[in-house]
Amino acid sequence: MTLKGKVAVVTGGATGIGRAIAFALARDGADIVVADLNREVAQETAAEIEKLGVTANAVICDVTKPWMIEKLGTSTLERMGHIDILINNAGVAGAPGWHEHPHSREEDWRSAYEVNVKGIFNCVTALTPSMKEQGSGKIVNLASIAGREGRPAIPHYSASKAAVINYTQGLAHTLAPFNINVNAVCPGLLWTPMWEQVGQRYAGHNKDYAGLPAREVFDRMIKDVIPLGREQTPDDIGDCVSFLVSDDAHNITGQAINVDGGAFLR
Ligand SMILES: NC(=O)c1ccc[n+]([C@@H]2O[C@H](COP(=O)([O-])OP(=O)(O)OC[C@H]3O[C@@H](n4cnc5c(N)ncnc54)[C@H](O)[C@@H]3O)[C@@H](O)[C@H]2O)c1
Repeated sequence: MTLKGKVAVVTGGATGIGRAIAFALARDGADIVVADLNREVAQETAAEIEKLGVTANAVICDVTKPWMIEKLGTSTLERMGHIDILINNAGVAGAPGWHEHPHSREEDWRSAYEVNVKGIFNCVTALTPSMKEQGSGKIVNLASIAGREGRPAIPHYSASKAAVINYTQGLAHTLAPFNINVNAVCPGLLWTPMWEQVGQRYAGHNKDYAGLPAREVFDRMIKDVIPLGREQTPDDIGDCVSFLVSDDAHNITGQAINVDGGAFLR
């Protein structure tokens, strides 16, 4: 129970990787705020988390809307007293329907940057003042191995995740004087609704995967690019995040940790 007494806000925490991160932190004793666009699923997730014996609240919010994040901060401080951990997980692969088009559109670039990058800025701006005041905090941003190297099939997404890694380093510098650690995690290949769309884009874009169903693209890619030869899971990411926000990681800041089965050996 290394996180007992801590309060963690997880954006995009209703489903997928964010949900697994919220569970991992709750398992370690943290009280959780599930902040998501999807109110109903966020409430279901919070109710499941409470079965672990911690407090969990669901708050509807869109990370692209600063006023909603302000409200998230105020309501969390009112209800839970403090904010110790911020997980910037909410992310999109593009604007709705992006994968049905052969190339990235202007709206895909805008959406990827507004949610994946500017969304982090909005959350950091609204939720760190109380961390600064209390003189401690942990932030983890969800990047991607796609941010390690430009990818032809999803350039807007790759570029936004490279920006997340870069922004993480800048934030680590800025917030270090307040004893706030800021790190990023770069998930590898996880079979999630987001990756299903990515698989469809690859099938239409890359000759090695042409015409294959998304799951087959995924399975082949695991064989082609992952030395350990297995997919990653949301729980793998949750475990890494849980370590990064624990006291064991108190001297780790400004890092981007790949959880990718060795896809990027650096
Ligand atoms: N799935 C993968 O293989 C993979 C790989 C690398 C990185 N990632 C990153 O991990 C994170 C989570 O990915 P996932 O696969 O779980 O995605 P997902 O689409 O399954 O879940 C994303 C969650 O974020 C919420 N969300 C989306 N936009 C939001 C917004 N504007 N404000 C608040 N909530 C919002 C959604 O409602 C959803 O609950 C993302 O940042 C993604 O880029 C995923």
